[in-house]
Amino acid sequence: MFPLQRKPRTTGWITSVVTILDFGSQYTQLIARRLRELKVYSEIVRFDIPLQKLVEMKPEAIILSGGPNSVYEVGAPQRNIRELSELAPLLGLCYGMQLISQSYGGTVKKKTEGGEYGLTQIIWDQAISNVPFEQSVWMSHGDSVDEVPKNFRVVARSQKGIPAAIQSDRIWAFQFHPEVTHTEHGEDLLRAFLFDFCKIKPTWDPRNIIDHISTNILTQIPDNEDVICALSGGVDSTVVGVLLTKILGAKRVNCVFVDNGLLRKNEFEDVMSSYTTLGLNVVGLREEKRFLNQLKGVSDPEQKRKIIGHAFIEVFDEHIHHLDHVKWLAQGTLYPDVIESLSPRGPSVTIKTHHNVGGLPEKLKLKLVEPLRELFKDEVRQIGKALEIPVEMLMRHPFPGPGLGIRLVGEVTKQDLDILREADAIYVEELKANGLYNQIWQAGAVLLPVRTVGVQGDSRSYEKTVALRAVVSKDAMTADWFPFRPEFLKKVSSRITNEVRKINRVVYDITSKPPGTIEWE
Ligand code: XMP
Repeated sequence: MFPLQRKPRTTGWITSVVTILDFGSQYTQLIARRLRELKVYSEIVRFDIPLQKLVEMKPEAIILSGGPNSVYEVGAPQRNIRELSELAPLLGLCYGMQLISQSYGGTVKKKTEGGEYGLTQIIWDQAISNVPFEQSVWMSHGDSVDEVPKNFRVVARSQKGIPAAIQSDRIWAFQFHPEVTHTEHGEDLLRAFLFDFCKIKPTWDPRNIIDHISTNILTQIPDNEDVICALSGGVDSTVVGVLLTKILGAKRVNCVFVDNGLLRKNEFEDVMSSYTTLGLNVVGLREEKRFLNQLKGVSDPEQKRKIIGHAFIEVFDEHIHHLDHVKWLAQGTLYPDVIESLSPRGPSVTIKTHHNVGGLPEKLKLKLVEPLRELFKDEVRQIGKALEIPVEMLMRHPFPGPGLGIRLVGEVTKQDLDILREADAIYVEELKANGLYNQIWQAGAVLLPVRTVGVQGDSRSYEKTVALRAVVSKDAMTADWFPFRPEFLKKVSSRITNEVRKINRVVYDITSKPPGTIEWE
């Protein structure tokens, strides 16, 4: 393990920053992801961020995203492009290209020819890196650049003759979306812009990421203030706990893991033992009774989530009174959550009340420290690996804060939780034994309040049903059900109905998201 720096650097944190101005495109996050994959640190900001703030970010390149508007529309997002180009080289994508053209005196044509949507052939008239002269790109535009501004050259056109790429000494612009994987050589084009045109160095690797976070944390948290970190057993909170412990020392990072009675079979013991091995200063709080008492008689999913969330706050509130120097609450917020709240499109509607720790900082009068707020999930896993967190912990499926409480449809009882735990453990054991666990984003069993007739042994049974859920996904925003082989389902079903006395029927959930959600409640 490499040593973490103990003091913040005073001179220059020297990773390159590329700033992405979000004009409302559905692909803005993808741009940031692609750049991070190329080891370039990128940040998304609203299109109307004040210039001074942008100057302070010291971007080495600025990317203007696409957007749903037409540059001529009243209220369409506008920006002084010349000002931006004095700050750094620019890359405009789709709407970004139209805005650039308009600003430099070119013209943009309204939807007269129906635009270009989906895969489209374009032809380059000059060689860019190893990109072939003719290629497919992903287009999604109604308006298009008509007259190209002075000092710009058209370097690629689509088959309709529409400018697909233009360049000047300091600006590149594409009418298509290099960030979308359907675009052939999209990555090469981004590379050419970043590394050849802007001379940016790809320095954003796990070692540098940790260094960067470490600098920020040491600047943010004074020496005489400590942190409390709520662990859930999941990847994000584990990485937060380990990272802060390495930066601030175990004495200053008080970790808490709550057994709310809604965990999986043996989860509390297993996770506590991993945490101890990782050197965390962790206290395990056995609070099953409190949670189950408060959940008694409640069947409504939102109500259950709220009760569980409040009970967490109660537990924390009581615990924190024993800890004098704690002034900070650590949270595993990731970049997609941050972007969501910044987007000009606004945060998406609440379908379920997530993030149980949401109300914690205000109630407990703590300041919030979010070491992962600049990272995507795959970056969190990478730094987890660099921090030597065991692979099994890093590859764990996401598990919701309210735990089995929302995988048990209807009222939550200890007896049903125990039944569900057994069925779920068999399912997960078989996934691992058959090499399927790591191919799946998330899997678990759900206990249904439906009793059906069956024959178990020689006698009639009238018992409960378990539904199996398994999905593949990139970010949990959308998901597809996993296509198991029938033999696998047969084996799991047979083991559950034989080994769990109170279950006589097993079904497999074949609903994607949307229209379903991943969890049943
Ligand atoms: P849904 O069910 O909305 O879930 O498709 C998307 C992802 O979020 C997880 N999830 C939660 N995580 N607290 C959490 O920390 C919650 O209340 C919660 N509800 C759902 C879910 O497991 C999936 O990964």
